[in-house]
Amino acid sequence: MSDHKTRSRGAGGYFRTKTVEQSIRDTEEPDHALTRSLSALDLTVFGVGVVIGTGIFVLTGAVAKEAAGPAVAISFAVAGLVCGLAALCYAEFASTVPVAGSAYTFSYASLGELPAWIIGWDLVLEMALGCAVVAVGWSGYIRSLLDNAGWNLPQALSGTSQETGFGFDLLAFLLVLALTAVLVAGMKLSARVTSVVVAIKVGVVLVVIVVGAFLIKAENYRPFIPPAEETTGGGSDIGAPLVQLLFGYTPSTFGVMGIFTAAAIVFFAFIGFDIVATAAEETRNPQRDLPRGIIGTLIICTVLYVAVSAVVTGMQKYTLLSVDAPLADAFKETGHPFWAGLISFGAAVGLTTVCMILLLGQTRVFFAMSRDGLLPRTFSKVHPHFRTPYRSTILLGVAAAVIAGFTSISELAELVNIGTLFAFVVVAIGVVVLRRTRPDLPRSFRTPLVPFLPAVSVLASLWLMLNLSGETWLRFLIWMAAGFLIYFLYGRRNSRMSATTDRLDH
Ligand code: ALA
Repeated sequence: MSDHKTRSRGAGGYFRTKTVEQSIRDTEEPDHALTRSLSALDLTVFGVGVVIGTGIFVLTGAVAKEAAGPAVAISFAVAGLVCGLAALCYAEFASTVPVAGSAYTFSYASLGELPAWIIGWDLVLEMALGCAVVAVGWSGYIRSLLDNAGWNLPQALSGTSQETGFGFDLLAFLLVLALTAVLVAGMKLSARVTSVVVAIKVGVVLVVIVVGAFLIKAENYRPFIPPAEETTGGGSDIGAPLVQLLFGYTPSTFGVMGIFTAAAIVFFAFIGFDIVATAAEETRNPQRDLPRGIIGTLIICTVLYVAVSAVVTGMQKYTLLSVDAPLADAFKETGHPFWAGLISFGAAVGLTTVCMILLLGQTRVFFAMSRDGLLPRTFSKVHPHFRTPYRSTILLGVAAAVIAGFTSISELAELVNIGTLFAFVVVAIGVVVLRRTRPDLPRSFRTPLVPFLPAVSVLASLWLMLNLSGETWLRFLIWMAAGFLIYFLYGRRNSRMSATTDRLDH
């Protein structure tokens, strides 16, 4: 059993790993344990519930209009492929280390404490900001429905205004607070609500595909890949994709490069399938059900996205697509207000679960980090009655609500993407490392073609990251630098591993 003890692999314990057995044991501590109640179907519903959201309902329009034209359908397929590669790695990890925390936990068991901290910190960014982005998108749809009924919120409470650059999004703020309360009250309730909402959302997406297919006009697809156009600002424009800045291209949109720029942005539409893995600790049979839930979610979403984007760009010329509610507006513009209203309603309902599950995922990662002592232990105490990690849920819920109140969608979505893609890189590397360091562990799902497939996954994720703007890279680096600071000032000393490592060293 000595092999299964915590090991410190030099470098002052930065690469001390928490063994898989220990990770699983931790989940059994009575005051820090969650209830196991989810099945593979629940996980898929949970996955689709978070994955289909602002990405397809909102970003499709802007991306088709500004970066890819009708070829946005190809961008969705590219982003889906990158996620598919990552999903095969995630599934192996998730079925091997079936405890809360997603990529964070997996990295702790394979790469070591510092990489695990980095990834956990990064996941909190992904989910907190992702939740805020979705809440703002939701608020837009609700305001549009309120407008139809003749009710208008004052401008100052309707989110950041284009003119003044300031404003408070009251609805987004209230949504996140309300969802926080639901999560504190327990997983059961939220899973039940989720399945009803997911049915409505998928129904609306199918309406877009089936009804919209009859409204396609072939001329809207010409040109399918619009020719490349230079953007203003010259070679030093920090808003241009990093790949263009690095290699000295004149920043441009559309053309073949535009497909990748668009893919890096619509990648947001796939965010969430990895969050299925954060529910491992609440899954009845994680070894079997997690890989099924993750891969099932991804296949369903990729097919729906490619179909929806192909239909919408076929219904309306890409140059005319709306940026706020492109799916509903395409129906309005082609003279079908009833369908447009129905789609807006479904989108508003659907975005609620996306926001909720992102919030849930983030509190679970935070919970796991706190249980390990990298963040104060007090945040991992579960509620005596609800059995939920209520302290981390409330802290992060309020923080996300404030962010949602004061921010706008666009820059944040890119920041969420870069964080998630970075997590994919770490997970793919982790699969290879864990095969070498712990070949003995049972793996109910094995990533095919290791190490080739994980290597391709790393390159594919890096490629999409390079297609994000220089500005996004800068923000990401600042966030990560803050994470390092916290780790060295707090986590490193307070880690529970630090106590164990010291004992083993003596
Ligand atoms: N994938 C989720 C969305 O598109 C986060 O809203």
